[in-house]
Amino acid sequence: MLETTSRKQGIAVEAPAKVNLTLRVLGSRKDGYHDLESVVAAVSLFDALEFEPAPDVRLACEGMAVPNGDENLVMKAARRLAEECGCRKGAHIRLKKSIPPGRGFGGGSSDAAAALVGLNALWDTGMGRKELACLGASIGSDVPLFLGSPVCVIRGRGEFVEPAAGACAWWLVLAWPDFGLSTADVYAAYDRLGAPRAARPPATEILRRLARPARDAAQFLLNDLEPAADVVRGGRTDVRAILRQAGAPAVGMTGSGSAYFALADTESDAKRLVQKTRAAGTQACVATIVAGAEEQKEVPQ
Ligand code: C5P
Repeated sequence: MLETTSRKQGIAVEAPAKVNLTLRVLGSRKDGYHDLESVVAAVSLFDALEFEPAPDVRLACEGMAVPNGDENLVMKAARRLAEECGCRKGAHIRLKKSIPPGRGFGGGSSDAAAALVGLNALWDTGMGRKELACLGASIGSDVPLFLGSPVCVIRGRGEFVEPAAGACAWWLVLAWPDFGLSTADVYAAYDRLGAPRAARPPATEILRRLARPARDAAQFLLNDLEPAADVVRGGRTDVRAILRQAGAPAVGMTGSGSAYFALADTESDAKRLVQKTRAAGTQACVATIVAGAEEQKEVPQ
């Protein structure tokens, strides 16, 4: 994941979206964050980043409206890496956005992780993935997971990342409404609502179902933030209901919303679900879980 490709003028990196297959909030912390246990999968909806040598650090964004100044996590990543390594080099960074922001797909965090990897290579700063992940944790809670393997378990506020091996049988449908939700607002609503009372399986239980039919996974796609996201969403589009009406056998919310995903057993099932979801006025696409380093090596050339 997050491999660099050499270009005539510099380096390119593709930054995947993620879905939280499960997410449990274990408790709130004194620093204002929450301790989590979540099983996360990187999925094949990508932002594209290009890095060219330049005297200063500059970012140009296209495809979707996102800030291109210091508030963009890509710029934060560039500044933090330069600081950490005492590096005075610059880069012109081009970011082509395809991952809708504010939906729980982690696009901004993935872009930041890709910037750390791309600039580490461009500037020859020689940091390892673990060091980049530590640096990433200071930029955003979801940055470290993108520096690990495509399916992983995250703990703490996201800084502890454990790879999760195992073949995954599913196709995915990613679906998102025309509005985003603020992560901070959803966590604040979670605190007001209080923790769910019903006993729930550990977040990692889903890992036993990765190779099973989608239907078997349905009851494990639990996200403790969903009731809070529902409150923040108010009366706006209910994407879970739309996916269920479209016939999805297993639906989950990713991150703090507003996007959802559905599991499907075949590509044609996934395509049918996408068509029906779009017909209901909601944006959707087919995706797969990104292949890990081992699986990538097995792909015939
Ligand atoms: O780390 P990040 O900037 O992505 O977090 C955004 C907000 O989400 C935090 O300010 C916090 O309110 C909330 N958050 C949390 N617990 C986490 C991750 C995020 O409370 N584990």
